[in-house]
Amino acid sequence: MKNYNNKFLWGTATSSFQIEGGSESDGKLPSIWDTFCKTNGKIKNGDIADISCDHYNRWEEDIKLLEELGVNSYRFSISWPRIYSNPNLNIVNNKGLDFYDKLIDKLLEKGIIPFITLNHWDIPQSFQDKGGWLKRDNIEYFLNYVNIITSRLGDKVKHWITHNEPWVISNLGYFDGIHAPGNKSRLESFTVAHHLMVSHGLAIPIIRENSINSEVGISLNLCPAYPASSSEHDRYASLLFDQSFNKLFLNPLHGNNYPNEIISHWKKNKELPNNLNFIKSNDINIISTPTDFLGINYYSRSIVRSNLVKENENLPIEVFPNHKTEFDWEVYPDGLEKLLISLNKNYKLDKIYITENGASYTSFPDKNGNINDINRIKYLDSHIIACNNAIIAGVPLKGYFLWSLMDNFEWAEGYRHRFGLIHIDFNTLERKPKSSFYWYKNKIEYQKNILPLTMVS
Ligand code: GCO
Repeated sequence: MKNYNNKFLWGTATSSFQIEGGSESDGKLPSIWDTFCKTNGKIKNGDIADISCDHYNRWEEDIKLLEELGVNSYRFSISWPRIYSNPNLNIVNNKGLDFYDKLIDKLLEKGIIPFITLNHWDIPQSFQDKGGWLKRDNIEYFLNYVNIITSRLGDKVKHWITHNEPWVISNLGYFDGIHAPGNKSRLESFTVAHHLMVSHGLAIPIIRENSINSEVGISLNLCPAYPASSSEHDRYASLLFDQSFNKLFLNPLHGNNYPNEIISHWKKNKELPNNLNFIKSNDINIISTPTDFLGINYYSRSIVRSNLVKENENLPIEVFPNHKTEFDWEVYPDGLEKLLISLNKNYKLDKIYITENGASYTSFPDKNGNINDINRIKYLDSHIIACNNAIIAGVPLKGYFLWSLMDNFEWAEGYRHRFGLIHIDFNTLERKPKSSFYWYKNKIEYQKNILPLTMVS
């Protein structure tokens, strides 16, 4: 086995629901995303993920591709509903566990470090039926699941992420209603965010006990806010955006209370009651249980224009967006560099991993069978340069996980967005590396040799 100890981790990331398929294989229970996909009008084009990339059956071929790519780590998630065989979630489904066991053994055999996300959104429908994340008592179900996984896999796996993007779970799932379960309430959204964070804190000692000398953290999707102009209204709107998107999670993780202005704003708007009695006195202590790293998912920044400006003034926007990806997300690598540098300055972070970064661009095989996704290459190159600049500026960045290994099921967007280094033909399930795959392979090789002082600790 190759020795990658202390080396910069170069990886790719995926998640169970987005790639696995096998929606009922080996006794898998339904997840809330299975339900959501089958609810009319929720997913573009009526797409479902019953088969998706069929990774559940083609995982060996996918590991061969990872090996060819030359990554030394692979971030993936475990499907909680595969791990139990009854809706009450107290009888373990060994076949589900075996799947991950085999996958991990093969990765280790190839010298690829498994980096596991415990919750990447596809929670059991039966957990949801009991009240899901809205009910504090339900955290026990999550902890039980974490205990099962880490006691079974904890000797082989040494990198754990509790939750992926609590902002997306709580905001898109419970406020905007565009993700499962599709609710629209600020109170529910904040309650869910809080319970997710408490469950994160409570999971940490369990993981540490079952997986000795492992690294534990959480992945936040952070989106730096830039006021559209230097007007007071825009600056205030930008502060509120930053608090609701970033600080709502960064604050409690670092032992601080939830940010004041946004909470008062929601209360003033009657989105929240005055008494937030779901927050208990010791909760910030629980949430700020020390971790080993912060995982950051970065895609873009947000340029914030205040509604007040729109109504009353004719103030020009001073911040001009650059080229956008097909998701309409601005390509803004400078935002990543500045974000990393400011996080390092504001919080005492020992270690940071970019747990996701990537872009949606569609390209199909040309007449020679090549898939020239030059825009993705440009996006990735500029963001890796941003990472390198941050490292040179002293940021303890220790790994980069590109989203994503292969085209996959992009949640409410179905299959219409393609983030992969590998093209998937969703009719034949054939895998075909794009130009970006070969570009990333060379990049990893090059970085390993050329930048040992900055990229390898
Ligand atoms: C997220 C998720 C991924 C997405 C990716 C592209 O950040 O939303 O972690 O599952 O597919 O980010 O949107």
